[in-house]
Amino acid sequence: MKKFFSVADVNDLSSVVKEALALKASPNTYRSLGQNKMLGLVFLNPSLRTRLSTQKAAINLGMDVMVMNMDKDGWALETRDGVVMDGTTVEHIREAAAVMGEYCDILGLRSFPGLKDREEDYSENLFNKFAAYCKKPVVSLESATRHPLQSLTDLITIIENSEVTAKPKVVLTWAPHVKALPQAVPNSFAEWMCKAQEQGLLDFTITHPEGYELDESFTRGATIITKQEEALNGADFVYVKNWSSYQEYGKILVTGREWMPTPEKLKVTNRAKVMHCLPVRRDLELASALLDGPESLVIQEAGNRVWAAQVVLKRILENL
Ligand code: CP
Repeated sequence: MKKFFSVADVNDLSSVVKEALALKASPNTYRSLGQNKMLGLVFLNPSLRTRLSTQKAAINLGMDVMVMNMDKDGWALETRDGVVMDGTTVEHIREAAAVMGEYCDILGLRSFPGLKDREEDYSENLFNKFAAYCKKPVVSLESATRHPLQSLTDLITIIENSEVTAKPKVVLTWAPHVKALPQAVPNSFAEWMCKAQEQGLLDFTITHPEGYELDESFTRGATIITKQEEALNGADFVYVKNWSSYQEYGKILVTGREWMPTPEKLKVTNRAKVMHCLPVRRDLELASALLDGPESLVIQEAGNRVWAAQVVLKRILENL
C-alpha cells in the first residue's frame, strides 16, 4: 500500500479485516517493522480517537510518532497558488508539507471541509496538495469527504460481530444534530459498505429524510429508503450518524427528534447492534438507553480504531 485515502486503496476487504483481527490478537508481532521510522500526525481539527489510536498503532509497530496540531500550534497556512501572501496566512502548504516530509517516513493528515463551497470541499484541494508536496505516503485521518480509517474500523467491527455464515443487513441512518456536520463519515461508510456488499459480505441500506441524499458516487449499489422504520426492519447493525445536506450544501434541513434512534424504534430490527463513530451527542443523535444498552458496539468500535490504523501502517511500511 502506498497511501490510504479511500476504499480504492484496498482490494480484498475480507483479507484486510482478517489481517487487522490477527493484529488485534497479537499486537506486537511486527514490533521491528517500524523501527527507526517516523510517523507524523498533522491535525487541522480536533480529535480524540484518531489521534490516540493511530499513535498506539504506530507504537505497536515500533515506530516513533510526532504530532502537530497545525490549527493551534502551526503557522497560518496558505493553500491557494498564485496569491500574494500579504494577509493573515504565514506559510504556504508547498513549504510546510515539504518540510514535514523531510522529517517523516509516513504522514497522516486531518482536514475537515469548510461546508461553504461544495466544489472546493469535494475537490480535496488541501489534502491533494499536502500529499503532493510532502512526497511521502499519506494516511487520511479524515479529509473533507472521507474518513477511511473509521470505515475500515466499522467493517472490522461488523465482521467481528457477525455469525460466520451470515450476511448481515447493515443500515446507515441519518440522525438529528444541532450543528451542520460534514458528510465525510457517511460518504466513507457508504462506499466501504457498498464495496463489502459487492464482495458478498453484507447487505447495505441507507435511510435519511428527503434532502439528505449523499453524493451518489459514494452510495451506488445501496438500497436507499426515506422511511426510517421500513429501512430498519430486520436490520442486524444500525449505524447512526448525522450529516448536513449535500444538495443544499452544508445546511440543516430537519430539526426535532423524530429521526433519533431509540429502543422503541429498534424493535423492528433483528436485535440490531448499534454503532456510532463518536463523539456522539446523547439523547439528541442517539438515545442514551441504546448507547448504554447491551446492543451498543460504540466502545468496541472505538477500540478497533487501533487495528484499522495498524494494518494500514503495516502495509505501507512493508512497501517503503
Ligand atoms: N471517530 C473519530 O474520528 O473520532 P475523533 O474525531 O475523536 O478522532
